[in-house]
Parts: sequence; structure tokens; C-alpha cells
Amino acid sequence: MHCNKNAIELRGLSYAYPDGTAALDNLSVTIRHTERVALLGPNGAGKSTLIGHLNGITQAQTGTVLIDDEPITPATLKSVRERVGIVFQDPDDMLFMTTIYDDVAFGPRNMGLTADTVDSRVQQTLAAVGLDALLQKPGMHLSFGQKKRAALASVLSMQPAILVLDEPTSNLDPRARRAMIDFLKQLDVTLLLATHDLDLAWELTSRALVLDAGHLVADGPTHDLMRDADLMRTHGLDTPPLATRP
Ligand SMILES: Nc1ncnc2c1ncn2[C@@H]1O[C@H](COP(=O)(O)OP(=O)(O)OP(=O)(O)O)[C@@H](O)[C@H]1O
Ligand SMILES: [Mg+2]
Repeated sequence: MHCNKNAIELRGLSYAYPDGTAALDNLSVTIRHTERVALLGPNGAGKSTLIGHLNGITQAQTGTVLIDDEPITPATLKSVRERVGIVFQDPDDMLFMTTIYDDVAFGPRNMGLTADTVDSRVQQTLAAVGLDALLQKPGMHLSFGQKKRAALASVLSMQPAILVLDEPTSNLDPRARRAMIDFLKQLDVTLLLATHDLDLAWELTSRALVLDAGHLVADGPTHDLMRDADLMRTHGLDTPPLATRP
């Protein structure tokens, strides 16, 4: 089906915020289906700005964003949003219905699936992230770690082929972090994740992109880049503990 297409392609993408901040500068990169890619870089590098472009929340000012080899346009937007699931850093930006059930059902309902299909997807997805006992609770009454999982479920229920995560493990306790990593490991999707959790990137991704001040400064195998202590240090990163284990 989609395997001979590129999942995500950026062609000469630049973006400046209305106040003049140049957040992305002439980025060109291609991610193929089934790749697992880490998006690394210091605070303010442009990672979240880049992610916002991948389902049209932010429109490209200069350059083009293609999903499955097709540019994002008003005509392709709905279909792009079914194929590219983005989980933002702050789960409070993603949970807005009166129950978790409805948050997770929102996407599938919008896709026009039948009530039975919506229900089975919601049950299945909430069970997969371990929230099936809480489906009638409102998102705002969940703990932070539970909210992170509910936000992920609200995207997974659409079964996107491309999953984009902005800081999936931030503010999670060690057990919740481990559960998140193990869960993501067994997912069969194309994965792009922005993270400061370098051990997570080491464990979960085979390729890494390093952004700094809106520039793509490195693109290569995650383990090779992370073993390059100079590269890591120059861009506000570090060689993760896992990289130094024998
Ligand atoms: N709404 C905005 N208006 C003006 N500038 C912004 C806005 N949002 C972000 N920026 C600026 O754009 C640049 C890139 O920010 P972005 O949030 O994409 O970085 P990031 O790599 O995701 O950082 P972090 O690791 O802290 O999440 C920064 O210089 C930031 O100050
Ligand atoms: Mg960010």
C-alpha cells in the first residue's frame, strides 16, 4: 500500500513567527514509512514548530510539506489528519470532552466510522494504554501521567500510519515512562518523536535529526550521532547513559 511512498517530506521549509522569530530555516528532509526517527535539539530549536507543520496546524510559509508524496493543501487536509497523528507535549491541549471515552471517540467519529466501530476502537485503544477502567472520567480529573496516555489514545484511535509525538515522556514517573516506551516499541507505525529524553531516543529510534536554531545540523543513525560527544555538546545535548553501557 503506502510502503513505496515517503511518509513525510519537507522541501525547503522555513517559518518565522509574526514577531519575526525565525524558527525554521530551509529544512529539507525525507522520512520513509516504517522509520523511527528522533527529533533532537535544545530548547527553542524549532522542534515543536516543525511538528505543527505536519498536519497543517501551521501552514508552510516558504517551502512544502508532503505526506505520502502529496503536498498538504486545503483539499488534502482532512485525509492528512487521519494519516498523521500528532500528540502534543501538553495533554491539556488535547482533552476537552466531558469524558475520556468521548475524547478518544472524537477522531473516529469525525472519520465517519459507524457507532459500533467507534466503540470497539475506543475500548481497544483505552485498554491498550491501560485506561479502560477510567473511560467515564473527565480528562481534567486524571493524573498527569494518565492524561498523557489519554492524549495518546485520542490519536491512536484514528489508527494513523504516521505517529508524531512531542515529548512523550516528559513529567512521567519512572514506571509510567517505562510503560510508555514499551508501549511505543511494539507499535507498528512510522514514528517521529521530539524529545529531551535521550535514553528514550537511543532505545526507540534508529535515526536522529538534530535541529539547532531552526537549522538541521545532523541527520544520521541515532547511535552514531549520540556517540559523537562533540556534536552532542555543541547543540546542547549529551551522550545518554545507555550509550556508555558496555
Ligand atoms: N508563538 C510564538 N511567537 C513567537 N515566537 C515563538 C512562538 N512559539 C515559538 N517561538 C519561538 O520559535 C523558536 C522555536 O520554538 P519551538 O517551540 O519550536 O522550539 P522547541 O525546539 O520545540 O523547544 P523546546 O525544546 O523548548 O520544546 C523559539 O525561538 C521560540 O522562542
Ligand atoms: Mg517544543
